[in-house]
Amino acid sequence: MALVRKEIRICMGSSCFSRGNRHTLQLVQKYLKDHHLERDVVLKGSHCFDQCSNGPILKIDSRVYENVNRDHIIEILEEELGDL
Ligand code: FES
Repeated sequence: MALVRKEIRICMGSSCFSRGNRHTLQLVQKYLKDHHLERDVVLKGSHCFDQCSNGPILKIDSRVYENVNRDHIIEILEEELGDL
């Protein structure tokens, strides 16, 4: 069984979802697929993290990313997942 090496949790609360995580989710899914990382990275939707004012929120392991948007999500993924 493959070892999961990273966990991405993306906030699907209504604030984050409507402010961009809806699109970010699709971009993350596509990135994982294109880079054959679906076995190494678990992607989970999450309820509101109670940090809406800093949202959209995305967490990778224990690191919290605020104000995530489609312009820099790929940069974040490359930095976090580039050496997997
Ligand atoms: S909806 Fe995402 S932190 Fe509240």
